[in-house]
Parts: sequence; structure tokens; C-alpha cells
Amino acid sequence: MQQKAGHLLQTGNTIALVPTMGYLHEGHLALMREGRKHGDALVVSIFVNPTQFDPGEDLESYPRDMDRDAHLAESVGVDIIFAPEAEAMYGQTYQTHVDLEMLPRFLCGLSRPGHFRGVATVVTMLFNIVKPHVAVFGEKDYQQLVIIRRMVDDLNFEIRIIGVPIVREADGLALSSRNTYLSKDERRSALSLSHSLQQAQKSVAHGMKDARQVIKGALEHIRSYPYTKIDYVAVCDTKTLQDVDRIDGPSLMAMAVWVGKTRLIDNAILKP
Ligand code: PAF
Repeated sequence: MQQKAGHLLQTGNTIALVPTMGYLHEGHLALMREGRKHGDALVVSIFVNPTQFDPGEDLESYPRDMDRDAHLAESVGVDIIFAPEAEAMYGQTYQTHVDLEMLPRFLCGLSRPGHFRGVATVVTMLFNIVKPHVAVFGEKDYQQLVIIRRMVDDLNFEIRIIGVPIVREADGLALSSRNTYLSKDERRSALSLSHSLQQAQKSVAHGMKDARQVIKGALEHIRSYPYTKIDYVAVCDTKTLQDVDRIDGPSLMAMAVWVGKTRLIDNAILKP
């Protein structure tokens, strides 16, 4: 991949990268369609990165289907799929990590302590291997997007980061490879996330400014569905991810909720 990227650059091409962990869905395809606009060559990485899974998480059971992924990627004009083995990426002697100081301390970082170190490290590796001009990430993993933007700025990567809005099912459920874990009943309860976000957006648009009140409404709504267990619901600054008390400007509402054995995340911008 490094040789191929070097050759593409030497021959005057630009490269767009969409990093994924595979088991592609419409959300990933939206990232690829966006990537297609920004590079002569469109590279998609498919790598279930072991270092971003904390002990006890779903690394082993994470869904994988390379043949299906290859067909889907091809259907939206992907030129190269980079799908390395974990051994080739990390080997036995690997010991270098990329760690951010503040941003991983909030939201998902609280219950997934090693997650963003694993993400920042593998994304750095992918950037060095694929050498993209542009890289595309989904806004569904909003914290990840903020972290990658910070990292790119801090470490002077000459890469433009593009965020793509969340793709949802018709009933509001945010697309995720992990939705495949949900039973029919759990799938109904999974709607508690998007519904509570919509409810919060309406309340804030109608003048509610107290973040605690908005969060309380969402907690009550989510708890009214069976199988749900809340990890966190937060209203925070869109850049620093620090909690806000008053919603005086666009603020991020982010949440993680267990539905049965599946941990789902979702978010929305609240605009007063
Ligand atoms: O968002 C994901 O799928 C992953 O966190 C990423 C960015 C591909 C890194 O493994």
C-alpha cells in the first residue's frame, strides 16, 4: 500500500482515504461517495483494529464480511481496499502510541479508557501508509472526529479532514455495524436514542436553555423503553467536549446506551 500510494503521488494523483472497520452499510457508503469527490484515487481501509477494543469488548464477535464489503465498495467507485492483517500492522514488538490529553477524557472515553488511544494510533498509521490528501469520517462518532481533527492539527498532518452527517434508517435509528446484534424487540428500544435527541432538539429550539433539564428529559425518555441501560447522556461544547450548563449556542448532545448487550451511540447538535 505504501508503494502504491508513493507511486500515485509521484504520478500527480491526489488520494482520499475512508478508514473503516468493515461490515459496510449506507453510512460508510456515504463517506465513500464524499471521498470519491476529493481524490483521484479513493482508498478504503478495512481493519478491525484490536487496540481500540478494551478488554471484554466485542473484538472477537465484531461482524466481518470481506466479500460483501468488496462488492459494496466497488459499487461506489472505490479504487483500492487496504485490508491488512493485525500482525502486519502491529507485529510482536509494537510499542508506540498516539494519546491525546484532554478530549478522550469525556463522553465515550469514560467507559472505554483505551479506545481513543487505539483509534488515534491506528489512524496515524493509516495516514502514514496511505498518504491521503483528504480523509473522511462520520459524524456519528463525533468524539472520534473531534479527536482526529485535533490530532491532525497538533501533529501537522497535511490532510484535510471531512466530516459526513449521520445516515439514519427511515425511523431514525443511526446506522451502525453493531445494529446487527439487535433482536427485533431491542431494535424497537434502540429508537429511544434518536427519539430522545429529536425531543431535545425541539425543546432547545423552543427556548429551553438549561442543559440539566434537557438531559433529564432524555434520560426519562430512554428509561421508558425496555432493555435500555444508559452509559451517558451529555450536552457539551462542540469543540472541547466539556459539559455546558446553559445552551446559548449550538451544542452537542451525545449519548451511549446499552440496549441488551449492544452499546449504541448517537448524537445531534442542539440549536437554541
Ligand atoms: O470509525 C471507525 O470505524 C474506526 O474507529 C476507525 C476510524 C476506522 C479506526 O479504526
